[in-house]
Amino acid sequence: MVRLGRIEVGVFNVDGEFYALPNICPHQFGPLCAGTVNGTTACSAATDWRFAWVREGEIVTCPWHGIEFDITTGKSLSSPRLRVRTYPVAVADGQVTVTI
Ligand code: FES
Repeated sequence: MVRLGRIEVGVFNVDGEFYALPNICPHQFGPLCAGTVNGTTACSAATDWRFAWVREGEIVTCPWHGIEFDITTGKSLSSPRLRVRTYPVAVADGQVTVTI
């Protein structure tokens, strides 16, 4: 978590790719980035139509009411209309830069 002026931003490393999300949940303004980073369950042709644990490390769960968000896109897993913005992240010479 980093503070950029008045904005708190969560910076996540997902398999070596960096992503940044605002630390505010679009549901009821909870501290989204303080949530648990995990995977989720899915059932699809890719899992042979059985529930399976997928996308480990790509999902953050808001600590207030448990809505899951895709760290890589900012989209909620439960409602396509519920999303957080994402900020561009660049890595150069070991330095991570977030543009807001
Ligand atoms: S405030 Fe994040 S799920 Fe409700």
